[in-house]
Amino acid sequence: MKVGIIGGSFDPIHYGHIQIAKTGLQKLHCDEIWFMPTKSTPLKDRILTSDVHRLAMIQRVMAYDPRFHVCTLEMEREGKSYTIDTVKTLKQRYPDHEFVWMIGNDQLTQFDQWREPETLTSLISFVCVDRDGQLAKTQYPIQCIHMEAMPVSSSEIRKGNKLNYVPYSVLQYIYEHRLYIENFIAERETQHRYKHSVSVAHLCEEMALANGLDGQKAYYIGLFHDIAKNMDKIHLEQWMDAICPENKKWAIPVWHGFVGSEIVDRIFYLDDPQIKNAIYHHVLGDDHRDPYAMIVFCADKTDPLRGYDSTHLIDLCKADIYQGFWAVKNENDKYLEEGK
Ligand SMILES: [Fe+2]
Ligand SMILES: [Fe+2]
Repeated sequence: MKVGIIGGSFDPIHYGHIQIAKTGLQKLHCDEIWFMPTKSTPLKDRILTSDVHRLAMIQRVMAYDPRFHVCTLEMEREGKSYTIDTVKTLKQRYPDHEFVWMIGNDQLTQFDQWREPETLTSLISFVCVDRDGQLAKTQYPIQCIHMEAMPVSSSEIRKGNKLNYVPYSVLQYIYEHRLYIENFIAERETQHRYKHSVSVAHLCEEMALANGLDGQKAYYIGLFHDIAKNMDKIHLEQWMDAICPENKKWAIPVWHGFVGSEIVDRIFYLDDPQIKNAIYHHVLGDDHRDPYAMIVFCADKTDPLRGYDSTHLIDLCKADIYQGFWAVKNENDKYLEEGK
């Protein structure tokens, strides 16, 4: 039995990892591929997402191919994890298996920093799967094979970029468990706007739950409601021309609702019509029927970070969003009238 091993933090797993696995099956003729998530990365300082979540995301990918397996040997080990310890254990536990450890170009270039590199390559074979189109040179006896470049990394995904490279079942898990999500917002909004978005998200969730509605859905509406707010005018106008040129009659500060509702769908793959609708209407507060649209309008206006005492309005919205909505709307109209 020939087993290809792919080690990594898988934080999160993406199509780049799956492509390496397929390369192992097709080009290295492995019978099985074992995904080996690390407990901690000795060469990296970042604190990883919890083992439970990373493992659960990998397990969602295992359904892709019956030859894919997950090996938790490194995760189960206490303290820092080194490949040399793993390799020795694997050889002991599975004396009849032939192991091929698959690494990327980035790992090959820092292979001399691995613990006992000479012993490692004498114990099992290492293969560098080249993702950049240029086969790296190495002083170690490591074979390099070419793989079509897949321009994605877990760090980009953690920032909310290239989410199309995440299997849909993994993305669903990310949203279900709110992994990385607040970071998606922090990457795109000013610090001030980010704090407002998180605050509105929690308020939306509270209002939804108090009204017997879906708290998770409301949380996402609140979190993403101002996602287009910091967009520069040139890009905002390009989006408006593409999606709803007829709405350009509205003042520019209103546009971020229309554009935001498309961004959540096209960039973040939140294609829930209620999420899109609520964000679309959040600036004008002109949807008087959908409770989620009312909730985000109210939470946005009554966000405690705005610095006025909005407790009575928040309580009204929690007691009954339909009544609360009109109270918030009236107060808002009064406020705008006074400002004229
Ligand atoms: Fe807004
Ligand atoms: Fe807002």
